[in-house]
Amino acid sequence: MRLQVDGAHVQIDPDPEDTLVDVLRDELGSTAVRVGCRNGDCGTCTALVDGQCVKTCLVLAGRAEGARVETLASLGTETNPHPVQEAFLAEYAFQCGFCLPGMILSAVTLLADTPSPSDAEIRNALSGNLCRCTGYVNAVRAVRRAAAAR
Ligand code: FES
Ligand code: FES
Repeated sequence: MRLQVDGAHVQIDPDPEDTLVDVLRDELGSTAVRVGCRNGDCGTCTALVDGQCVKTCLVLAGRAEGARVETLASLGTETNPHPVQEAFLAEYAFQCGFCLPGMILSAVTLLADTPSPSDAEIRNALSGNLCRCTGYVNAVRAVRRAAAAR
């Protein structure tokens, strides 16, 4: 089956039980999606699939035939970060970074649809992403900062 991942066209041959996160990490070597709970709770496996935030541990790889998948790696680089990444850095909104793929992609998706979100909307958008380090105050502040910078 064919996929587009972070702009590259790839061909894969997944086992029927492989999830999309398995393929992204194990076959394609992406470290910009992470495996946590594998049951849809933590959000660290989040990627954009055809523009929508998706927990890739919940998607069988075979169901993603032809999809356009964007991971955190497609957003920015260390020297040229995406504005939401800059905002998370500026607000010290992470420590270990394990939750960042989901946090940042959820924020990017929110701001694409809702450029000036309320705190309640930000909290709702981040609610599928668990962070065991920082709590959520700084993450909310980071999304607020990214919205103000647009
Ligand atoms: S690994 Fe997918 S939601 Fe936790
Ligand atoms: S920064 Fe460590 S889990 Fe969020």
